Amino acid sequence: MTILALETSCDETAVAILRGPNGDSGTDLLASEVASQIIEHEKYGGIVPEIASRNHLVYAPRLLDRAANLAKIGLSQLDAFAATSGPGLASSLMIGASIAKGLAIGFGKPYLAINHLEGHLLSPFFGCADRNDEVVPNISLIVSGGHTLLVRVRGLRDYQLIGQTVDDAAGEAFDKVAKMLGLGYPGGPEIEKYAREGDPNRFDLPRSMLDSENFSFSGLKTAVRYLLPKIVGHFCETHVEERRLPYKLDGQLLADLCASFQQAVVDVLVRKTIAAARKHQVGLVTVSGGVSRNQQLRKQLGEVCAREKLEFKMAESWLCTDNAAMIAFAALLRLQAGFRSKVTEEIDPNFALV
Ligand code: KG4
Ligand code: ZN
Repeated sequence: MTILALETSCDETAVAILRGPNGDSGTDLLASEVASQIIEHEKYGGIVPEIASRNHLVYAPRLLDRAANLAKIGLSQLDAFAATSGPGLASSLMIGASIAKGLAIGFGKPYLAINHLEGHLLSPFFGCADRNDEVVPNISLIVSGGHTLLVRVRGLRDYQLIGQTVDDAAGEAFDKVAKMLGLGYPGGPEIEKYAREGDPNRFDLPRSMLDSENFSFSGLKTAVRYLLPKIVGHFCETHVEERRLPYKLDGQLLADLCASFQQAVVDVLVRKTIAAARKHQVGLVTVSGGVSRNQQLRKQLGEVCAREKLEFKMAESWLCTDNAAMIAFAALLRLQAGFRSKVTEEIDPNFALV
């Protein structure tokens, strides 16, 4: 069984072709292509939906062609077509979903509408779930630019929402703090890069809502916002009128602030995830989404899980940020479980996971 999937929920155009397990051989990723539009949106300071959808229209057919060539497969030989159908930007979702539906109708094959968050949630199992029952019960932490969710996974399609952010997503906090510091977009990798040389204990930043199962990162972001002019006033020889956003700190100050901010985010994510695993008596913790690419998060969550005798699975680094391989994988598991979508199914920009 070979599936083609498209992911166009935001500003990344992605196409993947995945072959399901066959006899002794496991799943085989035949192609996974991603075209980023970051440069095109950077000058506007954020994603412009109209530009994103126009670019999807240009990139998707090219990636489709390239993926089929790499996989050495004709589109008529594919067994199913899938696309992200939400959550995301309506005008972006429409492009991938329309292409997948058109292919499914044209070749008379099944169509699968996949929730983007389910793609992230299942990605730690990529390559090892040759049978449905291998998506074993777990506490799943999904941390991306748009979402921060703690989910209790009982099995495929059996999800219970435990907690979510009440304001900014973890990745959004990384992006906004990076912007305050005059660093590039996406902010997560930038902050992580400077944090490597920094002291995570130099600045005392808040860890919010520790007794709740929900998350809040906006207080932390605001704390950095108020700390910045103080740091500049105290440590830097700049004029008062230069003390405004973005605050360009150099050297050790920048490294220490990035490390302190990153540590505050990681502490909260790790603590709540472990508390959820204990409370719900689940022996496996998984983590996925763009922020789970962060090495400090991966390391600290792994260490605490080991100490707590919890099994720990994380999505491979390349699978953490948006891609179509995770959508193809979710579609494959759903197809194996006998699930199909109607081609009349609409995209849903607010598609809830549960
Ligand atoms: O999953 P993703 O690619 O897109 C969404 O579904 O939102 O996640 C993108 C987010 C961005 O906010 C980005 O800053 C963050 O993931 N991110 C990171 C790292 N790499 C990407 N955050 C922290 N550390 C990283 N290394
Ligand atoms: Zn995502």
